[in-house]
Amino acid sequence: MKPTYFHKSVMVALPLFSAIAITSVIAADDKIEINPPAADSISKAQGLEAWSRIYEVTSHPRCANCHTGPSDRPMWSGPSYGKTREHGMNIQAGASRIGAETILCSTCHTTKSHDWENANTTNHAAPRVAMSWSLAPVEAHWFGRTTQQICEQLRNPETNGGRDMLEIAEHLNHDLILHWAWSPGANREPAPYSLQEHVNDILMWGVASTPCPED
Ligand code: HEC
Ligand code: HEC
Repeated sequence: MKPTYFHKSVMVALPLFSAIAITSVIAADDKIEINPPAADSISKAQGLEAWSRIYEVTSHPRCANCHTGPSDRPMWSGPSYGKTREHGMNIQAGASRIGAETILCSTCHTTKSHDWENANTTNHAAPRVAMSWSLAPVEAHWFGRTTQQICEQLRNPETNGGRDMLEIAEHLNHDLILHWAWSPGANREPAPYSLQEHVNDILMWGVASTPCPED
């Protein structure tokens, strides 16, 4: 299947999405708007600039540590960890990606549905979010991969969960793990830019027909 930006049916829905900015209910100060730029309003060069920012995010430890591809080992990395290493305690996500075969991720990464500000204040404690903690699907392989490799994976519906960029943007907004990644607490470095800027970049890149650096 040829990588697509917006399916036709979604194009029809765009004015609606622009009119009612979708807002998040996660935290009062955490509202995300999904406003795709007009069709054909973004050049390829602007699309590539948006991609380079998207790559900074997707390759950042707050994202890549769970997007480890065929390896079922989550990673510990980033300034607060010293050397990049596999998750301690011999943790394996297994084919289930949630550790069902050995020890569930949720044993330590317990869910947190209230008092969000105080969910992750203890250094080196297991991060907690409001949904089940799990490794990303094998196809969504970002850890240690090049900008071109991640770009090709993310624009291809066969490897990105069958989504166009509007659906990716919505997924990002509704994914509570991501709200954590920009506000991780416990001395962890947040993912670069902001969730809103990342969503804007995904939409810009989509309208520019998802260019990759080596196309
Ligand atoms: C705790 C582990 C974890 C972290 C951290 C994480 N993700 Fe994910 N990610 C997942 C899981 C699990 C899925 C599959 C969920 C689904 O498809 O509904 C996923 C799927 C995605 C998808 C769907 C598209 C695809 O290729 O499968 C995107 C986009 C995404 N993540 C972006 C991010 C970004 C951006 C960050 C960092 C800001 C991030 N993720 C951090 C676990 C994680
Ligand atoms: C026995 C407890 C335990 C289990 C089970 C566990 N974790 Fe963790 N995890 C931790 C702790 C503790 C940390 C924080 C380590 C630190 O900051 O030094 C952590 C950190 C992480 C991080 C790094 C987050 C970041 O800062 O970027 C990821 C990714 C992660 N775990 C994924 C998983 C996944 C996926 C599973 C299930 C397959 C899992 N963990 C199971 C205890 C656990």
